[in-house]
Amino acid sequence: MSTTQKPYHFLIRRAHSLLGLVPIGLFLTFHMVLNLSARGGPEVYDKVIATMQGFPGIFIIELVVIFIPIAVHAIYGTWVVYSGQSNVLRYKYARNWFYIIQRISGLYTLVFITIHVYLMRFSEANFAALSEFLRQPVGLVFYTLGVIFAIFHFVNGLWAFAITWGITIGPHSQKIWLYALVVVFILLSGIGLANISAFL
Ligand code: HEM
Repeated sequence: MSTTQKPYHFLIRRAHSLLGLVPIGLFLTFHMVLNLSARGGPEVYDKVIATMQGFPGIFIIELVVIFIPIAVHAIYGTWVVYSGQSNVLRYKYARNWFYIIQRISGLYTLVFITIHVYLMRFSEANFAALSEFLRQPVGLVFYTLGVIFAIFHFVNGLWAFAITWGITIGPHSQKIWLYALVVVFILLSGIGLANISAFL
């Protein structure tokens, strides 16, 4: 903690950091893997969506486990970007452009999630509707960037997370963690792109 940082501010930063992994990052991973069902075709995908939406108490679960954590993380994250704040500890280690892309990807993810949730949760949510959206070049670029930016933001965030929580303290452990995260980024991106291509 920097000497000028107030204790409550330190706690807010820790909460923001933790929310990025639990539940948001874990949900993102689960969501990507579940959407692989789209590769089985419209019937399989629509059945999976219907099963999920028919789950008892799904709205409350989504609200508590997904919407509220993302809203809290996004509101504080937007304030961090706006106020040009940086975690002194992290800034020393991270390369400058990773720091910048973390912020750009966070803002893009916010726009993407808002439109994605509107399309999939509050209007017609099925294979055909998403397929129609993705067949338009603008829709395809918007979704591809959204998926890649969200994954980048999560994975790059995990690098900072490990420093924030004192998990990777020295340069050696940070290097190993970096290699592991490159693999995670490639895997998740591969899954994300496979999901998108299933709708084309
Ligand atoms: C898919 C949704 C998201 C996931 C999985 C996610 C995950 C993460 C993770 C794991 C971190 C690193 C925490 C740490 O520094 O210890 C982080 C940092 C950050 N997130 Fe997100 N996030 C998401 C959405 C957003 C959104 C919508 C914004 C809005 C602008 C945002 C803004 C930020 C910012 C600014 C940081 C850096 C904070 C700092 O350097 O102190 N994130 N995020």
